Amino acid sequence: MTREFFNEHAEHWDERVAEKDASKLEQMAGRLKIKHGDRILDVGTGTGVLLSYLLKKVGNGGGVIALDHADKMLSKAKAKDFKGQIDFLCADVMAIPFKNDVFDAVVCYSSLPHFPDKTAAILEIKRVLKKGGRFFVCHTVGREHINQIHRRISSVENDLLPDAIEMTTLLSKAVFTEIQVEDKADNYLASACKAG
Ligand SMILES: C[S@@+](CC[C@H](N)C(=O)[O-])C[C@H]1O[C@@H](n2cnc3c(N)ncnc32)[C@H](O)[C@@H]1O
Repeated sequence: MTREFFNEHAEHWDERVAEKDASKLEQMAGRLKIKHGDRILDVGTGTGVLLSYLLKKVGNGGGVIALDHADKMLSKAKAKDFKGQIDFLCADVMAIPFKNDVFDAVVCYSSLPHFPDKTAAILEIKRVLKKGGRFFVCHTVGREHINQIHRRISSVENDLLPDAIEMTTLLSKAVFTEIQVEDKADNYLASACKAG
C-alpha cells in the first residue's frame, strides 16, 4: 500500500513534496555523526533528497547505499547526477539484503513513519549496523506538522512519527545505547548507537 502510494507520487515528489531548503538539509546532515570514509545506508531515500549531503559527509573514501522499496522513487534518484560512491537498492527495510554488521550509520530521513512495523524495522536496521554504528531518524519539519499531513491522507493516515518518549522506548527495546531524541517545532532528530 505504502509502496504504491510513493510510486504514484514519484513523478511530482521533488516539485510538490520534498524539502527544498538546502540550508535545512545541509544543517541536518551536519548534525549526523558521520565521518569521512563511513559506509552509510539511507533507508527510504526516495528521490534522493538527502543524498548529496550524505555523500559530501562520507567523502571519497566512503559510500552510500540508497535503499527504497518504491522503484519509481528510486528511478528519480538514479536519474540525478550524484558525485561519489553510491549504489541504489530497491528493497524493503523489513528485510535488508545485507549481512550483519556492515554499516557505520543508517539514516532514515522522513521515512520511519511509513515502516509497517517500527519495532521489527529498527531491529533489522540494528542488525546491519556495525558495533558502535549509529542510527539516525531525522526530519526537517516538526513532528506535529508531519503527523497532521499524514492524518489527512488516507493511504498514510496511520503513518505517524513517534514522540520522544515513544521513540526512546522503541530504541531502548532494541537495546540501542546513547539514545537522544530532539523533537523540536521545526525539526526532529533521534540518534542511537549499537553497543560495541
Ligand atoms: C516521505 S518519503 C521520503 C523520501 C525522501 N527521504 C525525502 O525526504 O524526500 C518516504 C520514503 O520511504 C520509502 N519507504 C517507506 N516504507 C518503506 C519500506 N518499508 N522499505 C523501504 N522504503 C520504504 C518510501 O517508498 C518513500 O520513498
